[in-house]
Order: sequence, then structure tokens, then C-alpha cells
Amino acid sequence: MSLLRSVSDMHRLSTELRSGGKRIALVPTMGALHDGHLSLIRAAVAKSDVAITSVFVNPTQFGPNDDYDRYPRDLDHDCALAFGAGSNVVFAPTVEEMYPDGPVATVDVGPLGEKLEGKSRPGHFNGVATVVEKLFRITMPHVAFFGQKDAQQVAVIRFLVKSFDLDVEVIPMPIVREADGLAQSSRNMFLTASERAEAPVLYRALRLAAEQLSNGAADPVGIRQEMKEMISATSGVIDYISLADAATLEEITEKQRGQDVLVSLAVRYGKTRLIDNCHVRIP
Ligand code: PAJ
Repeated sequence: MSLLRSVSDMHRLSTELRSGGKRIALVPTMGALHDGHLSLIRAAVAKSDVAITSVFVNPTQFGPNDDYDRYPRDLDHDCALAFGAGSNVVFAPTVEEMYPDGPVATVDVGPLGEKLEGKSRPGHFNGVATVVEKLFRITMPHVAFFGQKDAQQVAVIRFLVKSFDLDVEVIPMPIVREADGLAQSSRNMFLTASERAEAPVLYRALRLAAEQLSNGAADPVGIRQEMKEMISATSGVIDYISLADAATLEEITEKQRGQDVLVSLAVRYGKTRLIDNCHVRIP
């Protein structure tokens, strides 16, 4: 088990591992690890000889109004959890290690990064794609694990890999939830007790949409409205509610047999912005 803080140490280790024929898995994270992250790490351990967990709160994916400064950071705790889940290496560079000369050449993921989350967080996905591209080059993984919690991020990473012919297998993993349905998130710790009690409505709204898309009579416009009413009955302030074609991320207005739909939402409780989603195939 080793904790590496420098880009050159990490790169050297991965080069050695590669030349020794070892299979490397990467789980990119921003730390504040919870069961969602740990499920990715366990899957990475099972599918590789060496599992690397990166812990880096990447400034270039946060906008000026985002929560970069208050994002939770506790490297000792993260190392204990990551190693406990079987990770062989934790790579936790400083901002100066990753961006020593300030701005870098950036990856532009185009329109894919401008929809849904990207509309609310301009530049976010270019920041994500850029740092993941850097992490891939530094750690040289054969396989990398990402959570469906960030469904659009998975699409962006797949697009990155395809665009640059990267030799990395991207494996998406299911969303890990609390017993009451709330998706696990590093940001849940910011919820007050009453906000925490209200937040599971997001999962109930997604379930309602899934049920209506699969078996119900309501059309997408009606479903969006019903979800809106459910969430608006709490203190949640809706950023967006989307029923989109999972491939194009274009909003759908009618049900089409066999279509894969991404139902997603972003809602603020106080200062905390929560996102969640589910995939539904229309029968
Ligand atoms: P972070 O938010 O720390 O998430 C790291 C990984 O854990 C992501 O792939 C995310 O989708 C996954 N994850 C988070 N909550 C989850 C849950 N409840 N169930 C399953 N997986 C979950 O996503 C990022 O960091 C960053 O954008 C990063 C990719 C590291 C680039 O900076």
C-alpha cells in the first residue's frame, strides 16, 4: 500500500508496472470517500493486479459559484478507506503538482458538455475531461471505473476515450444509495437534518418517472410536471428535471418504443446541490 503525492513518482511506478506486465485499474475521485466510491474501488481491485485510487479536488472543473473551497478534504481518512477496500496505491497530487504552471491545454468536449449538468455548470465537463486525460497519462490504466451517479460524466469520458483513441476500458458502475434511496454523495454531509429528511424525494421522483415511462399513461411532459410537483412540495429548489434520449441527451417529448431514456435532475437544498438519475428503456 503506498501513498504517492508526486506526478513523477506515480508515472514511474505505472511505467514499471506496465513493463512488468501488470494490469492497472484506476478509480478517479475527489476524495471524501463513501460507499459509492468504495464500490468502484472494490470492482477495480477485482479486475486488476494493481488498483490505483486518485484523490484530487480538481479546481478546473469548479465554476466561480461552485463549492471548491468548502469541498471536504481528509486525505488520512480517504487513505484508510481506500486501502481498506483493497486499493494498492493512492495517488493524491497537490494542485501545484497537477498544474505547476497554471493553465494547461484543455480538452473541449463540445456540445456533449453543454447539456444538462453542463448548462448549469459551464466549462465543468471540459475541466473533468482535461483532468481525467492527465490522470490517464500519469497512471496509465488498462481499465478505469466511473459511477453512473454522474451519468453525463460517463458519456463525456467515453467520448474522450473515443476521440483520442485512448487504450483504456471504461467501466460504469451502478449508483450506491442510502437505505431511504438518497444517492450517496460527498455533498450529503452538508445537508441539515431537515434537508436530509426531505432529500429522498429525489429518488421517489425518479422512481415515479421510471414507472410512468415503463407502464404508465403519462407522457414526458406530464411526467416532468409530476416530478416537479413532488419535489416542489419540499424546500428543494429545482435546477433541472430532464427526460432525455440517453445517447444524444436531447429532451424527449414523446415515448418511443425501445428508446433508452436518461431521467436526471439537479436540486438545491439550502447551499447543497444534489444530482441523481436513472436509466429507463421504454418497452
Ligand atoms: P467524485 O465526485 O469524487 O466521484 C468519483 C467517482 O465516484 C465518480 O465516477 C462518481 O460517479 C462515483 N460516485 C460518486 N457517488 C457515487 C454513488 N453514490 N454510487 C456510485 N458511484 C458514485 O466524479 C468525480 O469525483 C470527478 O469529476 C473526477 C472524475 C474524479 C474528475 O475530477
